[in-house]
Amino acid sequence: SWTTGNVIEEQVAAIREQVGTKRAICGLSGGVDSAVAAALVQRAIGDQLTCVYVDHGLMRKGETEQVEKDFVAATGVQLKVVDAEERFLNALKGVSDPEEKRKIIGREFIRVFEQAQAEIIAEAGSGAEAVEFLVQGTLYPDVVESGGGTGTANIKSHHNVGGLPEDLEFKLIEPLRQLFKDEVRMVGQELGLPDEIVQRQPFPGPGLGIRIVGEVTKERLDLLREADAIAREELTAAGLDRDIWQCPVVLLADVRSVGVQGDGRTYGHPIVLRPVSSEDAMTADWSRLPYDVLGRISTRITNEVDEVNRVVLDITSKPPGTIEWE
Ligand code: XMP
Repeated sequence: SWTTGNVIEEQVAAIREQVGTKRAICGLSGGVDSAVAAALVQRAIGDQLTCVYVDHGLMRKGETEQVEKDFVAATGVQLKVVDAEERFLNALKGVSDPEEKRKIIGREFIRVFEQAQAEIIAEAGSGAEAVEFLVQGTLYPDVVESGGGTGTANIKSHHNVGGLPEDLEFKLIEPLRQLFKDEVRMVGQELGLPDEIVQRQPFPGPGLGIRIVGEVTKERLDLLREADAIAREELTAAGLDRDIWQCPVVLLADVRSVGVQGDGRTYGHPIVLRPVSSEDAMTADWSRLPYDVLGRISTRITNEVDEVNRVVLDITSKPPGTIEWE
């Protein structure tokens, strides 16, 4: 029968067997999945694992600092932080198509990993074993929705499944490939990860890059980061962050509408709030958030975020909508 203990035991044995004396790296995204995958692989191979956190500039406010502090504190893992903002923003320049964005982000992730791999070997000195393996926190729903499951159409290229380049140099370790999110959380808990990591709401690997409808620019990212931070702050203050599955905050960068603020006309962008409740992200319903909380978020965003003059609420379930807008 299924227990978290069994899953951990089986995976630890399988990973040890697969990796032998070689090395592995694991991309940390700040999310639950990669954190649990990393902790599991660390349990199996200890210091043969190096975690790489790619700061692609598409992160939310405070996210990088949180990974640097909380995850390292909880696991003692070897962590390498790569500042790759410029690289990602250059690669995304002029691109508005969602699938193209996802593929570019997936490709750049791998390129950064390859570079990190070379650096890790150099730092380890001569005679060091090769970094042959890449650990990914791919879950069962990611596999299914990227068309890797049983005859399902490709809905989106999750950056860690369909978004990988064809000339990938790494062998993959995906210890969570058969699990759903709630199971991953249980495994994480059993591995001793703190609640702040295990109970985090999901956040997609491509980050805010797929929450800007239109081209991704630094200015737009900064704007969205502000709006997102406000929404998260108010949801947490209202004690709702555990009730909802997640609440993407989306910037409609190619849309403008007329408004009025102070004594002048504005012509700004809308922000979409997308609070959903779900068991496993395969299906979802829109969350019936209290009006006063929605009101506070709306007032603060329109007051505090430049260029945003309207906040709208997404009341679509999944299907037919997906959770993310891209
Ligand atoms: P959708 O938008 O497909 O999202 O309904 C389902 C869940 O998956 C997350 N998501 C991703 N997670 N890489 C990830 O790690 C991705 O490329 C990706 N795309 C979507 C999304 O936030 C939701 O929880």
